[in-house]
Amino acid sequence: MPLVSLKSVLEGAEKEGYGVGAFNCHNLEFIQAILKAAELEAAPVIIQASQGAIKYAGLDYVASLVKVAASSTFIPVVLHLDHGTDFVQVMRALRAGFTSVMFDGSCLPLEENIALTKKVVEVAHAMGVSVEGELGRIPGTEEHITVSAREAFFTDPQEAAFFVEETGVDALAVSVGTAHGIYQGPPEIDFQRLKELKEKVPVPLVLHGASGVPDGDLQRAVTLGVRKVNIDTDIRTAFVLSLRKTLAAAPQEIDPRKILGPAREAAVEVIRHKIRTLGSSGRIKEGFLYKTTPGDLP
Ligand code: 13P
Repeated sequence: MPLVSLKSVLEGAEKEGYGVGAFNCHNLEFIQAILKAAELEAAPVIIQASQGAIKYAGLDYVASLVKVAASSTFIPVVLHLDHGTDFVQVMRALRAGFTSVMFDGSCLPLEENIALTKKVVEVAHAMGVSVEGELGRIPGTEEHITVSAREAFFTDPQEAAFFVEETGVDALAVSVGTAHGIYQGPPEIDFQRLKELKEKVPVPLVLHGASGVPDGDLQRAVTLGVRKVNIDTDIRTAFVLSLRKTLAAAPQEIDPRKILGPAREAAVEVIRHKIRTLGSSGRIKEGFLYKTTPGDLP
């Protein structure tokens, strides 16, 4: 089926109270692994491209590969731009066929974040494409920030409600204690803040930096209203560990397919586990008709 918008997938998740995995892709094998896992679990799925992935693989390559993947499956697939910070790049993503874009203005002063996000929403909505905004900064685990300093970045629920009202975003990425990358110790999610955010914010919440978060904490976050869960590092780790294992066992191997094939399968297993954890397994029935863009204008 054609790609679907983020808004339509998150509406289904909100109605039934589950989370949808937003898995980062970096190459063909990641895209195939994400789709295979989603099909095996009969789950809606979001395939997203980060700034690093776009630099590595190219925006049009990613878009073309994901469109081909989506066209051959009964699974609703969203193609999402992760952490867009440049208005021009967001426009290029719209032209390339992305059905969801994130505009991350979280490093900007509030008024600037609102103004730029609003501009993106205006254009994207006119094209039936959803927009994720970000308020509160989600750091990387490599940034050596103390817990109290990290809390200064957390999303304020009142401000979040104002931001959503002003910009018209379809989903909001919030900072509640997670970080991108490999954690040094277990992450401490501010569940009370998440609860307040859910009460005040009228659109689905997005949790970034979900790799390394214990399953129980992810499930609790979903119970408290998180509907899109971003996962990258855990998949990369499984993929690269498998590559290392294959090469260690067969150092003479020169067929890339024999090295990449098992790594792709390792990624499938991790993604299936995340899908089950988030509760999106078994939500799609074969033959199921899903609204697709541009018919599902937000
Ligand atoms: P992790 O790499 O920590 O899973 O974070 C992914 C993410 O949030 C992408 O936006």
